[in-house]
Amino acid sequence: MKAEDILFSIPFPVAITDGEGRIVNVNQKFEILVNRSLKYLKGRKLSSFFRRAPEIDRKVTEAFQRLVEVLGFRDGQFFLNFAPFFVSSEVKGVIVVIQPAPESPFEKDILAFLKGLSHEVRNPLSGIKGAAKCLRELRTYDEELISVLLEETERIERLLERVVKSFDFSVLNLEETNVHKVIQSVVKLFESELKRSGVNVVYNFDPSLPEILLDRDRITQAFMNIFKNAIEAVSDSPKKEIRIETGYAIHPSGFIFMRVRDSGVGMSEEELSNLFLPFYTTKERGSGLGAFITNEIVKRHGGEIKVKSEKGKGTEVTVLLPMKRRDGEGTDSRR
Ligand SMILES: Nc1ncnc2c1ncn2[C@@H]1O[C@H](COP(=O)(O)OP(=O)(O)OP(=O)(O)O)[C@@H](O)[C@H]1O
Ligand SMILES: [Mg+2]
Repeated sequence: MKAEDILFSIPFPVAITDGEGRIVNVNQKFEILVNRSLKYLKGRKLSSFFRRAPEIDRKVTEAFQRLVEVLGFRDGQFFLNFAPFFVSSEVKGVIVVIQPAPESPFEKDILAFLKGLSHEVRNPLSGIKGAAKCLRELRTYDEELISVLLEETERIERLLERVVKSFDFSVLNLEETNVHKVIQSVVKLFESELKRSGVNVVYNFDPSLPEILLDRDRITQAFMNIFKNAIEAVSDSPKKEIRIETGYAIHPSGFIFMRVRDSGVGMSEEELSNLFLPFYTTKERGSGLGAFITNEIVKRHGGEIKVKSEKGKGTEVTVLLPMKRRDGEGTDSRR
């Protein structure tokens, strides 16, 4: 049995370094992880492939000099484990085994949210900074620059207000609602835009649907976001058609559905997986909050959104809403 074979078979990326943390050998999983060949890697510092380089160097030294194991050192999305590497009871270097850190979906969402938020705040901030610098240089009152300061400050205010609102679904104002009326009122709002861009809306309603308990304003907001996305998706398509369908859901039963199908640009798998993330947008003027807010609203109603999409073909968004509400659901989250 050769040591190389063992190294090759370990189901994690593994690197062996000398006492200074320079790579001596790695397995194929490590090559794939850093996307470099062993030939390239030999002699380079292991730490140079990670974010917390100085600390990793220290851990290597610790394992090498004090002959201790250091387990579970976190570097971004990885856990690194260090152990002295013995050859015939003599320490020759350090063996480093890398494991993926278990991903918390909550952490991921929060991180994406914070990244998006700081991105959004940074734009107006740089405008404010620029204007302030100009004012300092001019040393005079300049109406236009002051306006920039005010406008950009207001932009941040509006953004934050929107963020707070979008997170506050604590109180739903439930009333018996006719979903067809909600749909029609939203389409009406977009009427002139639909005409202007030549979009054809086709309805297929199930008139026997009952009225259900919904927060009318919130559901209108949700449907508006979905419909707006559909219009934007077909805006450059040769076929500009949006189909709106309602009915009783079969799976799961006890739900009604509202479906919006567009013949627009569609989404790749990656775009689809990002759709509901706050601030995720591929549009120049988009906020990326539309789908996120819509999803939150539907979830708060005890419902669910299902999306199917094909790049270049179109998208189908189905909102499922329960006909009967479970006790106390959705009325107050501060319970
Ligand atoms: N019907 C659709 N067809 C194709 N892509 C879509 C569709 N709906 C959403 N998307 C994609 O998902 C992204 C996020 O949508 P979302 O509604 O959250 O934000 P947005 O439309 O970009 O901005 P905003 O809603 O603030 O105007 C869009 O930028 C787009 O890439
Ligand atoms: Mg949108």
